[in-house]
Amino acid sequence: MLGAMAMLLGLLLALLGCTAALDPALEEAWEGWKSLHAKEYPGEAEAARREVWEKNLRRIQQHNLEESQGQHAFRLAMNHYGDLTDEEFNQLLNGFTPMWQEEPALLFQPSVALKTPAQVDWRAKGYVTPVKNQGHCGSCWAFSATGALEGLVFNRTGKLVVLSEQNLIDCSRKLGNNGCHGGYMTRAFQYVHDNGGLNSEHIYPYMATDTSSCRYDPRDRAANCSAISLVAQGSEAALEQAVAAVGPVSVAVDASSFYFHFYKSGTVLLLMAWMGIFSSMFCSQRVNHGMLAVGYGMSQEHGRNVSYWILKNSWSEVWGEQGYIRLLKGADNHCGVASQASFPVL
Ligand SMILES: *[C@@H]1O[C@H](CO)[C@@H](O)[C@H](O)[C@H]1NC(C)=O
Ligand SMILES: *[C@@H]1O[C@H](CO)[C@@H](O)[C@H](O)[C@H]1NC(C)=O
Ligand SMILES: *[C@@H]1O[C@H](CO)[C@@H](O)[C@H](O)[C@H]1NC(C)=O
Repeated sequence: MLGAMAMLLGLLLALLGCTAALDPALEEAWEGWKSLHAKEYPGEAEAARREVWEKNLRRIQQHNLEESQGQHAFRLAMNHYGDLTDEEFNQLLNGFTPMWQEEPALLFQPSVALKTPAQVDWRAKGYVTPVKNQGHCGSCWAFSATGALEGLVFNRTGKLVVLSEQNLIDCSRKLGNNGCHGGYMTRAFQYVHDNGGLNSEHIYPYMATDTSSCRYDPRDRAANCSAISLVAQGSEAALEQAVAAVGPVSVAVDASSFYFHFYKSGTVLLLMAWMGIFSSMFCSQRVNHGMLAVGYGMSQEHGRNVSYWILKNSWSEVWGEQGYIRLLKGADNHCGVASQASFPVL
């Protein structure tokens, strides 16, 4: 009887594709990861999640091994999204769909007369709030939009105020934004424009859900928007000028690859300090993730110049370089970084 049961169970497991045995040597690492990120799973769900996590871990280790042999320019690391498959990750988190604006907007075009500095980093000028965490919610568009507004409010008022993504999630649906299932930075700016303001994070905190109704409080106008400016599509030159002249600019990138999900940083080998800049043959121009361009720079090592964008993400400080990525710049609009860039005008 027991034998028959076990056989039946074995058959069921095989049918569901769950036969891959968990690695007992990873028991401690799995428990440590779960407790670090406060993960809990109901009953049977745990084995399936651990299998995904083990698979991700093996891919990360393989990539880092190859990196140490000089095959890649950046390292990967396990993070709080380690229990998601690539498909789940993209479905849950990459909430930006490219489109071009039908609303009236200004167009920021590259100008030959405009000279830009060799490097810009708005973090050093006080324009950028601490890295946030969107959680399991495809609200990147809201984080990208608040980031651009936060920078411009700082420029205007000299005060760095953390702005509310939840306000955008709850209140901009009628403009076509879809809460945790995606949205557009331009439509977030449009909401702030139409609404005549946006609340601060302090009075309208983030919940990583999209089931509550709009609670905008007109007494707390922490930001304004009088117009929307689009950066000439696909032009990294225009994006550079916008970032240099305006402040942090909202951008979208293709963040769908495994390498982007688990991007960590440069190599520990000091001799190759320019490494760590993200570029990948798996990065396309089909953008799906909103981020914030807070600057750009260039590394000069061993007679080689490598230019990069500094992009702020909303996947917590655990991801990337304390929450940021340096993305290859000036190489045919890598990852589509200049394909859908925009900023508000206060
Ligand atoms: C705001 O931007 C203007 C023009 O770019 C600049 O001259 C000014 O110094 C900035 N203000 C602050 C507080 O950074
Ligand atoms: C936004 O505009 C309103 C009305 O014009 C003004 O009272 C408020 O101070 C502005 N807020 C910011 C942050 O610029
Ligand atoms: C690297 O950039 C510097 C400064 O812009 C420049 O002087 C130098 O010629 C560049 N080197 C190469 C190899 O392109």
